[in-house]
Amino acid sequence: MLEKQLEYIRSKTDFVPEIAVVLGSGLGELADKIDIKCTVDYSELEDFPISTAPSHKGRFVFGEIEGKKVVLMQGRIHLYEGYSSKQITLPIRLMRIMGANKLILTNAAGGINSAFSPGDFMMISDHISCFVDSPLIGKNNDTIGSRFPDMGNAYDKDFQRIVKKVAYDNGIKIHNGVYVQLKGPQFESPAEIKMLSALGADAVGMSTVIETIAAVHCGFKVCGISLITNYACGILDKALSGEEVVETADRVAPDFEKLIKEIIKAI
Ligand code: HPA
Repeated sequence: MLEKQLEYIRSKTDFVPEIAVVLGSGLGELADKIDIKCTVDYSELEDFPISTAPSHKGRFVFGEIEGKKVVLMQGRIHLYEGYSSKQITLPIRLMRIMGANKLILTNAAGGINSAFSPGDFMMISDHISCFVDSPLIGKNNDTIGSRFPDMGNAYDKDFQRIVKKVAYDNGIKIHNGVYVQLKGPQFESPAEIKMLSALGADAVGMSTVIETIAAVHCGFKVCGISLITNYACGILDKALSGEEVVETADRVAPDFEKLIKEIIKAI
């Protein structure tokens, strides 16, 4: 299914990445600071989703970070942009057939857990996917992955140990917790946040979970890191805004970049 997109990329570069990274809000600039070998805009690829979200450029960046060969998604695609779960996860599958087998997913999220404050990091230890469509609905391609993939180790436990150690060694505080994906684009209501809290979610956002599902299905080992950009709705008596998310993400960007680079070095 992705043969023509892979063929196009191969016509531009023979770069084989080991690690794929999806850069969420606040991290996009990391891609401009690395040793870039090649870039491919999503718009150059046939039948490919294009990101329209604020601060999300739409391109693959191939290069090296800490001596590791990486492909970065500088800009991701969200359900609220009108794409299906299947379309949104095409880039994940494409990065897998380019050769990457480790995936780092990053995002901005609202903090539900009362121990979390804006600017904190959360390592994703598990997720709740039942508010969004699975990217695996429809005929299964058995050559890619199993019809019923296991989600018991979706966020690889070895990676989780490495992330904790990397954060500790670099003096970066990191929580761990359960991330829930909703479709958006509206922020949640206070009643929805109460419900999500009762379900066991620690942080909420509009991405990542469907990417993890597709990634596990096609054989990636996955690591997920959230940047808590705001208290979830209803915790403070204050309106949420996209600007607040971007402001916090920009403020913490240097630490976020450092954390991700150190994780890339260590995995
Ligand atoms: N809710 C959903 N998505 C988000 C939030 C939030 O509070 N913050 C950043 N992304």
